[in-house]
Amino acid sequence: MQFGYFDDSNREYVISQPDTPLPWINYLGAEDYFGLISNTGGGYSFYQDARLRRLTRYRYNNVPTDMGGRYLYLRDNADGQYWSPTWMPTQNQLEDYSCRHGMGYTKIGSTFNGIRADLRYFVPPGETLEIWDVTIKNLTDEDRQLSAFSSVEFCLWDANDDATNFQRNLNIGELEVQDSVIYHKTEYRERRNHFAYFACSEPLAGFETQREAFLVPYRGYQNPQAVLRDVTNKSLTVGWSPVGVHHLRFSLAPGETRRVIFLLGYFENPADQKFSPPGSQKINKAGVEPIIEKYLNPQAVDQAFEHLKQYWQANLNVLQVVTPDQHVNRVVNIWNAYQCMVTFNLSRSASYFESGIGRGMGFRDSNQDLLGFVQMVPERARQRILDLATTQLESGGAYHQYQPLTNRGNDAVGGNFNDDPAWLVLGTAAYLKETADWGILDEAVPFDNKPGSEASLFEHLERSIQYTLDNIGPHGLPLIGRADWNDCLNLNTFSEKPGESFQTTTSRDGKVAESVVVAALFIMAANEMQAISNHLGMGDKAAFYKNAAEKMAGVTRKHGWDGDWFLRAYDHFGDVIGSQECEDGKIFIEPQGLCAMAGIGLKEGMVEKALEAVQTHLATTHGIVLLDPPYHDYHLHLGEISSYPPGYKENGSVFCHTNPWIMIAESIVGDGDRAMDYYLRINPSNREAISDVHRCEPYVYAQTIAGKAADRFGEAKNSWLTGTAAWNFVAITQWILGVRPDYDGLRIEPVVSKNWKGFKVRRQFRGTLYEIEVVREGTGNNISLFVNGKKIEGTLVEAVGASQVSVKVVIA
Ligand code: GLC
Ligand code: GLC
Repeated sequence: MQFGYFDDSNREYVISQPDTPLPWINYLGAEDYFGLISNTGGGYSFYQDARLRRLTRYRYNNVPTDMGGRYLYLRDNADGQYWSPTWMPTQNQLEDYSCRHGMGYTKIGSTFNGIRADLRYFVPPGETLEIWDVTIKNLTDEDRQLSAFSSVEFCLWDANDDATNFQRNLNIGELEVQDSVIYHKTEYRERRNHFAYFACSEPLAGFETQREAFLVPYRGYQNPQAVLRDVTNKSLTVGWSPVGVHHLRFSLAPGETRRVIFLLGYFENPADQKFSPPGSQKINKAGVEPIIEKYLNPQAVDQAFEHLKQYWQANLNVLQVVTPDQHVNRVVNIWNAYQCMVTFNLSRSASYFESGIGRGMGFRDSNQDLLGFVQMVPERARQRILDLATTQLESGGAYHQYQPLTNRGNDAVGGNFNDDPAWLVLGTAAYLKETADWGILDEAVPFDNKPGSEASLFEHLERSIQYTLDNIGPHGLPLIGRADWNDCLNLNTFSEKPGESFQTTTSRDGKVAESVVVAALFIMAANEMQAISNHLGMGDKAAFYKNAAEKMAGVTRKHGWDGDWFLRAYDHFGDVIGSQECEDGKIFIEPQGLCAMAGIGLKEGMVEKALEAVQTHLATTHGIVLLDPPYHDYHLHLGEISSYPPGYKENGSVFCHTNPWIMIAESIVGDGDRAMDYYLRINPSNREAISDVHRCEPYVYAQTIAGKAADRFGEAKNSWLTGTAAWNFVAITQWILGVRPDYDGLRIEPVVSKNWKGFKVRRQFRGTLYEIEVVREGTGNNISLFVNGKKIEGTLVEAVGASQVSVKVVIA
């Protein structure tokens, strides 16, 4: 069952009924100002940091769900009926409801009693504000007398404090109103130089700035008394819960249309120019007023929307494909790239499953997000790499998370996730392959933000590798530390206290438990360091990394192999995890994919064997589960993984982030059909038809789909902010379609289904547009390349700096 459809030519998903199984959301903003917006107008906004600079309030865990957001109420003053054109919060029966989620904007529209209302929400590129562009039309042949009310609830900046510290917060809320602009300035009197504003293009019949005055006690957003009675009090009280409500009254002749623009924005004044007149407590509005004036003008709004469209056109044009499969086309060309931008921007901070107060930017997560983002805005990827390296510890280890506003490692979460360092190398390698900007390696970057500790980025990468070499366990495999990529495999935690954090508790010395996953990641990283050193003319170092990788591969073949698949780990007692010997958790997905990518046991046929085991034990119709059988009870020595009920999250769900590793492994061994089959099982568009089962948005990947052991097999959770976005993008574009940036050019090695006759890829790469046309002439994976009509040896198209290159690829 579907709740909408894809409109590919407009790059939109169109939701045609408001009561989707879960709120289906979109993101506004791509730089400093962000908003989450659901298909019924729910959500919130923040500046840079979802926790520390929250502009509007959002109550997670609300009942009914998704109550609170960017609401507009319309009221028919003839009979007093009122409704919300976005359906929430009033939930009236609407005609012609639709929500179009597009690239950085959302349009919601509907008709009620002959009044058509359309709202377009977006953030103009380069600005720290969002626009609500509202058009209201009278479709009847009678004059209509209407009122309109806008509504947002302000957050007192730190979302965590806002949700907990009521004894203070209910006393500090402050606002100002001037003309049609409501200013939220809580704490501006003291240490904050920033404020929020909510402006309207129309003269006001009234306004309200207190939630209680707008709703009155014991009523909610579904039936505010101010709307019911068409009365506002121009309240301007201190404390309690500041809101912004504009009250408009107007009439519409038959067929008449009225356009109203609302702006919700963030502004910072210089510390010495906060007040006007100086010495007063009033906001100095000289800086912000021109911005407000500009965007209250419909022409400027239309222009800004055009800019937004061009911005996305440019981002997406970097890579466009035409294949025989519509799910590949639309997901690669539009939604997966878009999701990669969102994960790059927000890491795992703010979604409808991440509250914006729990996690900062993940070190591992952000490095992985780069893999799917770097081709779009390489300069931002560059800065991100340098920021991440700045939080790296001198030991080469890493804080697991950092806060974007301060760029400081998060002490409360700490480090010792022993896979983290390898990801810095892999992220940087992806950047170098995309850009050939070798200069980044010379950038001086401190360790742990300490002035005076600066070293080149190259040295940071070397320390990353050294970190693993310094943390080797009894079998010669890397020690796992707190956990590796699987945050829930907590082999040194041994937690017996209710509520204790699995992520930060360590109660063993950590000198025994080892990880095959870290071994594979180490080899992948060491291979990149070998290539990078070679490029820099450092033969000795290249030899060192080659040797380190080979040695680790040997150890893994010997101690990381279970006979039919790769082992997962050794626990604190030196016993195997992910082996036939185990009762539960006999086989895990991660090492099967990552060892293939590291090339471990490729020649020896181990990878092919492991992939057979994946097919037999882990593959399901809804994707490949993380492990099997799931743990049926809690194991002190395994930690959080066994805390989840069987089939959920890390305990045997389809953890979508890991599936592309298997797709990549299948393409490495040359099985294009299986790679594509696995790809399609979790491709969101391909799951659209079962939206009633999947329940999350059909246009983006979710982190997890309940596994075969779960009662809700096939149900997705944790949509949007997941490494799934970047890795699926890499798997389909670089390995299956096979257009892969490499240090010296574009490597072209498609491994696609046997029944694909061909496909096309347009790829902008280092200033050149590559028009790649692939045709299949046989059933194998043998590749011949013709560059501008001339046959070349091998599969690397060297970057030559031409403006356009045509590449013909024959697969036989
Ligand atoms: C979450 C985390 C990611 C981790 C994964 C597996 O997605 O953000 O860092 O690798 O879970 O536990
Ligand atoms: C929980 C989640 C895991 C995530 C971790 C991060 O353990 O299950 O996916 O990586 O939290 O804090």
